[in-house]
Parts: sequence; C-alpha cells; structure tokens
Amino acid sequence: MSEQIFEKVKEVLSQIQEAQPASPEELEAFRIKYLGSKNSIKPLFAEMRNIPNEQKKEFGQKLNELKKTAEAKFAQLKDGLGSTTSKSSAQAIDMTVPVGSLDIGSRHPVSLVLNHMIDVFTRIGFSVAEDREIEDDWHNFTAMNTPEHHPARDMQDTFYLKDSTSMLLRTHTSSVQARMMTAHEPPIRIIAPGRVFRNETISARSHCQFHQVEGLYVDEGVSFADMKQTLLYFAKEMYGAETDIRLRPSYFPFTEPSAEMDVWLGTETETTRKLTKGTGWLEVLGCGMVDPNVLENCGIDSKKYSGYAFGIGIERSAMQKYNISDIRMLFENDTRFLSQFTAAF
Ligand code: PHE
Repeated sequence: MSEQIFEKVKEVLSQIQEAQPASPEELEAFRIKYLGSKNSIKPLFAEMRNIPNEQKKEFGQKLNELKKTAEAKFAQLKDGLGSTTSKSSAQAIDMTVPVGSLDIGSRHPVSLVLNHMIDVFTRIGFSVAEDREIEDDWHNFTAMNTPEHHPARDMQDTFYLKDSTSMLLRTHTSSVQARMMTAHEPPIRIIAPGRVFRNETISARSHCQFHQVEGLYVDEGVSFADMKQTLLYFAKEMYGAETDIRLRPSYFPFTEPSAEMDVWLGTETETTRKLTKGTGWLEVLGCGMVDPNVLENCGIDSKKYSGYAFGIGIERSAMQKYNISDIRMLFENDTRFLSQFTAAF
C-alpha cells in the first residue's frame, strides 16, 4: 500500500520536472495544478496516515521535495516566459494605431552661429583648436601679459577654484593662444571656440558664462593689414556681402596695437537700434597684433615672428542674428524656445 503511494509521489515529481508550459495560459495551468489551493500535491499529504510510522519521516521529506520542486520550476518558467514575447501579448499590440509624433532635436542657436564661424574660418586655412575650461593663472593671465595686479584678475571678475589662488575658470579663450604657442612652432593659424566664465551679475545683457571664438595667426611677416582683410572677409560672410566694418582703437594687455571691430547694422529697425544703442554699429570682436611680450612669454622669437589675434563673442552674434532680446534664454534650455531653430550648420 505504502509502496503505491511512494510510486505516486515519484510520478508527480517527474510530471513536474518534465512539464513544459509554452504560454502564459499553460504556465497558469501548471501553477493551479501544483501550487494552487486545490493542487494535486495536497491529497498526497492526506496519505500520511496510511504510511507506517517508520516511513513517515521519509514520506514527509519526499512531499516537501515535491512542493519545493514545483515552486522552483514555476519561478524558472515564469522568468523564461517573461523574457520572450508571448502569443497573447503580441496579439495585444494593435498595429493599426498611428504612431505619435517624434520629437526631433534642433541645434542650439549658439551652436548654429559657432558652426557658421568655424566654417568661415576653416575655409581660409584656420584649424580648430580646443582646450580646457579650467585653467591656471599663467595661461589665462600671466602669459597673456596681464600683470599680477591688473584689474582683470580681480576676484570680482574671475571664478577661482575653491581654496585656490592659481586655478580658475578661464575668463577668455585667449588662454588657448598661450596653450598653442607654448606647444607649437609657427606658423600657427587656429581658431579656438569655447565657453568662458566671468563673475558678472546675470541680466538680459550679460551672463556669467558665454562663448567666444579666439583667432590666432603667427608667422613671419604677419601684418595689421592681413588681420583687417581676414576680419572684413569674416564680417561679409557672417553679415552679408554689403557689410561695412570699422576698427576702433582699443586696449588689451596681450595685443599692441589693439582694436575693436564694429559692423554696420544701421538704425532702421527697432532691433538694430536697440542692439547698436542707436549708433547703427554693433561691436562684434576685439583684436590686435600679438604683443611681443606674449610671444616671448610663450617661447616664440618676437624678432622673427609676428601675429594677430582676435576674440569674438558668440552670444551677441546669435542674439543679433535671431532677434533674441535676452541672453538668459540661451542658457535655459527651454524646448519651446530651442525648437524654433532649424539647422543650417
Ligand atoms: N580676450 C579678449 C576678451 O575676452 C578678446 C581679444 C582676443 C582681444 C584676442 C584681442 C585679441 O575680451
């Protein structure tokens, strides 16, 4: 009698081991059969009373094994079925439902203007050089002929790293001039686009971060006239073939002589009057002949070589081009604003 019952237990065990439910429905049937409230293992427990005392322990162990095997098998099958698409969930997908609209990204206006500038300068032989935003004092100031007590180094303008008097967030891309000139022999002809940081109060017109494109050309016999022609070409490419420029004398520690370049936008529209403060001229860049001190600081023979450099603010050009009245919009990443720009570059 007890042998038959042991036989039965064995049979159920092999049924469990061999079961191969292929769908969630079959798996559910398996669960009901072996783990449900009226499962087929339960009646076997009732057989306990027909088992002789000396075999009760063994029988109990066998039944527990049965239960555990069923549970483990169910868990394993459930995982297996979950990872592949079952018939019924495939049926649940309605292939006729139209797809929702796809959000296609657009280029940021700063990138658009930057890429345009890169395109304009690479066409005439400049290559793109990029360098670090966290700079040391030497490359940002000292090498650039900005002496220790120059107001540009003021804590008010420069973000120094915490607990540091020598590491800072670069205040201009001119630091890349020093990086290039210390690492390369002339001829050097690069533009260096990138982000710069100044500790300024954020308003509609100024921000604590913005972008510049630095330009540097160092070779034998480079003249101010070369610079002027290059910048005129740049202005015509960016602002149209009829564009006029003017160079106003200015001052930068790292160039001598120095100038600022304005482009003529006119005073016809409200926007141009606002941007040019009623003068019609928009200030777009600072430039000049690389100061011989800078060349020497960077290990370049200033008797043999000369060069020019310029630094263009990108946000202002983007604001002018796209009629953006508040610089803060360029840093908020509001997609309602950004999605209005389509890429030409
Ligand atoms: N670095 C200057 C600025 O940030 C711009 C500049 C670059 C001027 C190169 C002259 C030459 O305003």
